[in-house]
This record gives sequence, structure tokens and C-alpha cells, in this order.
Amino acid sequence: MKKLISISMNLKKIEALKSLNSECLVIGIYEDKNLNEITKILNSDSSGLLKKLLTRKELTGALKNQLYLPDMSGFKANKVFLVGLGKKNKELNEDEFSQLSSTISKITISSNAKDVDIFLPEIKVKLKKPSWVYKILSRDLESGCYQYFFEGKKTQPKNKLKKINFLNLAGNESKAKILSSIKMGHVIGAGMNTSKDLANTPANICTPSHLAKQAKLISKTFPSIKTKVLGEKEMKKLGMDCLLSVGNGSAQESKFIIMQYSGGKKTSKPHIIVGKGITFDTGGISIKPSPNMDEMKYDMSGSASVFGTMRAIAEIKPKLNIIGVVASAENMPSSTATKPGDVVNTLSGQTVEILNTDAEGRLVLCDALTYIERFKPASVIDIATLTGACVVALGHQATGLLSNDQNLADNILESGYSSCDKAWQLPLWDEYQSDINSKYADIANIGGRAGTITAACFLSRFTRSYKWAHLDIAGTAYGGRVGKTSSGRPVPLLTEYLLSRKQ
Ligand code: BES
Ligand code: MN
Ligand code: ZN
Repeated sequence: MKKLISISMNLKKIEALKSLNSECLVIGIYEDKNLNEITKILNSDSSGLLKKLLTRKELTGALKNQLYLPDMSGFKANKVFLVGLGKKNKELNEDEFSQLSSTISKITISSNAKDVDIFLPEIKVKLKKPSWVYKILSRDLESGCYQYFFEGKKTQPKNKLKKINFLNLAGNESKAKILSSIKMGHVIGAGMNTSKDLANTPANICTPSHLAKQAKLISKTFPSIKTKVLGEKEMKKLGMDCLLSVGNGSAQESKFIIMQYSGGKKTSKPHIIVGKGITFDTGGISIKPSPNMDEMKYDMSGSASVFGTMRAIAEIKPKLNIIGVVASAENMPSSTATKPGDVVNTLSGQTVEILNTDAEGRLVLCDALTYIERFKPASVIDIATLTGACVVALGHQATGLLSNDQNLADNILESGYSSCDKAWQLPLWDEYQSDINSKYADIANIGGRAGTITAACFLSRFTRSYKWAHLDIAGTAYGGRVGKTSSGRPVPLLTEYLLSRKQ
């Protein structure tokens, strides 16, 4: 388990900033053409430097405006960074704050300091309390510090940041309340990093067996999580032929992983999260084109988010029963691989005609979704890099959401907004269902033009007995702003959703 940075709160008055013996000081500044409360203090010993910077409009205090002062006279701190917070009494919306928070995190990390002090006057966010602000800030700081250790790469940058200290308490909540929110954000950030680590690991290392090993490791570190792993023999016995058909062409054994956290009463029904764990998706016999195929190591991001969320849950210890499930296989072409046109059985008893072996995610998920019926779940969310069509529809900004229960969908949308990890709903209307009719089996694994919706239609045939939502994270799990690295999404959304369940 990687070591977390330490985040503390050690209050100081503004006047004390000058004498602070700090390696790096990050100070939030409101937008103002003139000197104000904070800039006055910064200006006093600096021969009018701040005033000059204001006149030259280098320092504006506008949202995300940044200024680096390597040697601020009158200040003991080695480096001072100023960051714009926008107008003092203007409330930010969640998006604006989310951007500000990641700017603060980037500044803090790029300062190259081991130890950073942060002074932020009140940041008002619409309908949010200061504790929410600190939760997102500490999450972004921990998550922003993430660096994948590339085994086998000799030269790689190293994060020096070890310790962050908030110098002031802005707003009207108690220090205890703020501290517990900081802890909460911190743990969610750590969960995101667990998820990123797994997803970034090359597919020759991150195999289904590797995931199974990691699940057992999480159990060892957090004994409140009990792990069970099924191999191919056990799955065959149960009748999970559809899941197994995906790994037919691979030398790697498929695995089915169940992680159970029992914090609630025995009688309280569990909430279940199910992750797609395709450790590499070549497309199988319906092989993918070569360009960017390396990105298909991220095809287990759904399962990575299950690991990250379970880790966060184990640390937060809510009074809930939560089960994390991972359906894992490697999708390869070979003489033993499933062929287009093959018909397989599912655990549910329905048969599937596999018209395209590249639509494999739904094939592993459907058996997992049937298996979990035995737990009589209160709600089920599956998380999958399921369709390229979802990236076309929503880009890298929003996760696709489809559900058979509008109340559940509304709760997830809300959790997306309040964790700054947004989802957007697409319809799951009956009129799409006929797109996946098959001539030779009960269901075809592809069909129609609306790829994300018909994929969800396929899954909906296996989730009739409980409240279920599907998250398509093909666009949000990696890529976009973060480039070819894992984003750690949607760990924040999932954690937020689970913690908002009745305890
Ligand atoms: N893992 C892919 C989906 C994907 C594509 C994720 C791009 C991230 C980026 C999935 O298994 C897949 O191949 N889906 C096909 C479905 C099609 C054959 C109906 C797709 O989206 O092209
Ligand atoms: Mn595929
Ligand atoms: Zn896939």
C-alpha cells in the first residue's frame, strides 16, 4: 500500500504568515483592482511589489490566476504562490470550484516542496458548506500527488510532496467537522489512486490473476473486507459459460472476484458494485485496428474503480453492507477463441449469439449480474468501459448512465454533481430492445445504431429482479485532460453514492 501524504490543519492568523518558516506557502487571493486585506499584508514589506503586480495586471485574483514569487521580501517562506479565488462575495458553482481545486493541487505539487502551507480565505460554493470545500480540496491534493511507478523505466519524476498544512479555518463549521471532511476527501483520493495504479499497470502484469491477488491483498490490509475468488473450473460448474467464452482465446485464466464489506446489520440488504475487468481487449477474432490498441489495457477500469471504492469504504467504515464484484478475463484471438456466430449459454439460462467478439464487456458482466441475485441487493451499479459510442456521445467529461429505476438514476446523477465526477443519463426505452434480437439465440450481443444504449439493453435482460444502473466509463476512466493515464474516475461518484445510502 502506497504511503499517503499527510494533511493537517494548524491555524495561524494572517499577520503570522510573514514569519512562517515554510518551504512553500500557497495563498488564495480575491479578485480586486486595489490592495485588500491579504494583499495589503503581502505588500507591506515588499517595497510595493504587490501593488505593482496589480497595476500590471499580472496579479488579478481572477479565478485560477496564478503568480509565483520565488523570493518574497519580508517573508520567511522560501517560495510563495498566489492563486486567484475570484470575487470575494461571488459564489462559485461546483464546476468552477472543481477547476480551482485542481489548480491549487497542481500549484502545490509543482512547487517541488516537501512541505506546503496553504492559506485560503473563505471560498463560497453555491449550496455547499465549507466542509464540502475542504473535502474536495484534500481529495484533489492526494489524487493530484499520484504518480505511477513505471517498473523498468530508469528515469522518472518523483513526487516530493509529503505534508500539507491548512493554515486557516474559513467558514462557520467546527474544526472537528472540517477535519473529518479532510480525512474523508483524503481517503477518497487514496481510493482513486488505488484505481489508477491498477488501471495504469501494463496488461502483461495486470492479468485476471493479478486482479485476484490484489483483491486478496486488500482483504489482508483491510480485514473488514472478505474476498472470494472463483476460477474457471468453479465458474464452469456454476454455468457461467458466457463469461468464460470471452477468455477462451487467452492463456490467462478468467477470474470472478467477490469482495464483501459488512458494516451494516445482517438483515440489511447490500449495495453492489460490479466492474468490467477485461485486462486487455484485442477485440478477439473481431480484432481491433492497431492504432492506440495499447489503450485497451484500460479495459479493466470498471473493476479498478471497484477496488478503489472498496478501499475507501474500508477506511470510512460506514454502517452499510457493500459488495464489490469483478468479472475478469483477457479478450484474445486464437484457435480456441470464440468466433462470430457462436451461441453460448448464460448463467441466467438465456442464450446469446456472439455476432461480434469485440462486444465482450457485456458478456462477462451478464453472468456477474445474474450471480449477484443471490445477495438480494438493495441496488446494483455496474461500471464498464463498455462502448466507444459513449465517448462519441459524451466525450471525456461525463460518464454515461442508464438505469431501470429513475429514483436510483436520480441519486447517481446527484452523487455525480456533488462529487464533481459527473454522469449524464441516456434513455433505456423499450423501443431499443428489438435491436438486439437474434435469429439463433435469445439475445444478440450487438445491434442497432445507438451503441451505448443497446449495450445497456443487453445488460437489462439480466437485471430484472433488482434496481440497477449501468455506468459507461469508456470516456471518463482515462484519456482526455489526463492524457494516456487513468483518471481514478468514477471512484468519487461511487463513494458519494454509497455513503449517501441509509445507514
Ligand atoms: N472496450 C471496448 C469499448 C471502448 C472503446 C472503451 C474505446 C474505451 C475506448 C469494448 O469492448 C468494445 O470494443 N466495444 C465495441 C462494441 C461494438 C463491437 C458493438 C465498440 O465500442 O466499438
Ligand atoms: Mn471490445
Ligand atoms: Zn472491451
